[in-house]
Amino acid sequence: EMAEKAGYPHFMLKEIYEQPRAIRDAIHGNAGVIEDVAKEIAKYDKIFFVAMGTSYHAALVGKYLLQRLAKKVPIVEEASEFRYEMEDLIDENTLVIAITQSGETADTLAAMKLAKARGAKVLAIVNVVGSMATRIADLTLYTHAGPEIGVAATKTYTTQLTVLTMLATALARVLGTASEEYLNELESKLKEVPELVEKVLKHDGALRELAEELKEKRDFFYIGRSIGVPTALEGALKLKEISYIHAEGLSAGELKHGPLALLENGVPVVAIAPSGKTFDKMVSNIEESKARGAYIIALGDNESLKRVSDVLIEMPPMDELLTPIVYVVPLQILAYHLAVLRGNDPDKPRNLAKSVTVE
Ligand code: AGP
Repeated sequence: EMAEKAGYPHFMLKEIYEQPRAIRDAIHGNAGVIEDVAKEIAKYDKIFFVAMGTSYHAALVGKYLLQRLAKKVPIVEEASEFRYEMEDLIDENTLVIAITQSGETADTLAAMKLAKARGAKVLAIVNVVGSMATRIADLTLYTHAGPEIGVAATKTYTTQLTVLTMLATALARVLGTASEEYLNELESKLKEVPELVEKVLKHDGALRELAEELKEKRDFFYIGRSIGVPTALEGALKLKEISYIHAEGLSAGELKHGPLALLENGVPVVAIAPSGKTFDKMVSNIEESKARGAYIIALGDNESLKRVSDVLIEMPPMDELLTPIVYVVPLQILAYHLAVLRGNDPDKPRNLAKSVTVE
């Protein structure tokens, strides 16, 4: 097992560090293929995403990408909820995009089967080659992340996001919903993402120290806006599943509508704060949290964050649409160190299985 871990103490850490390579493979593995899939699905206006857990968070990012680039407005459903509300709404004019790294998640497979039975077109975004999801789907895109052993999804998530970015870009090109110039630029920026992730991995030491400081905390809040919301949800999920610390991820705008009441001295608030149209509002949310005594950990590329945060995780500047892939990485590392410092095995969290094969 030591050999398989390639010198890393845990598979999760190894898989976190494999992300630049995995993202590169996802890009190369889908170049060419994705254009054909985009052409096949371009005509659908009724689009559903179905997925669970981390893959559900990828679906949420997929929704923002399709909205911004392809001007489509998909509905994102947890696969386990899909059947109760959506069954009557599915027909042959429907596209269902299922996201599942294992391709074996029972809830997701059930939603796919239901969609198929109703005549919908089903596209699966999967990591495990030949898994059940690929056999049910009409079309499959692979994430090419390689085997993921750690129960907590890391490289399979960032590669799902990579594939979704490519798919939305290809769709926008087919539909003419964004300028060719911008789409070309986004594609070349996506190719630079592995290097951005390399840069962010360098925060590992600082994040370990931060984890040391925060390891006795009982609650964490993760806040984001717009395409940063799924990142907040995913940061919170990573923390819960391996460190067993209670965490909530939410849209920063929701803070004042209730959760703010939970903030008191020293409660960590992790703010996803990239430059862009949400930045100013995010700074106000940080300030309002700070005023209640919260301990602010900001992720961003703007100097002014230093003034409002207790800790700034400096991120390289990038197109807002690419931030989900890069910003989740420090959150994975922070969760990893908190788990280890609290004496947990991050690869095998209690009560959880790598693929959930019962509904
Ligand atoms: C992620 O860290 C979790 N272990 C879990 O939420 C997972 O993403 C979910 O069970 C879905 O799995 P899948 O992608 O294999 O369908």
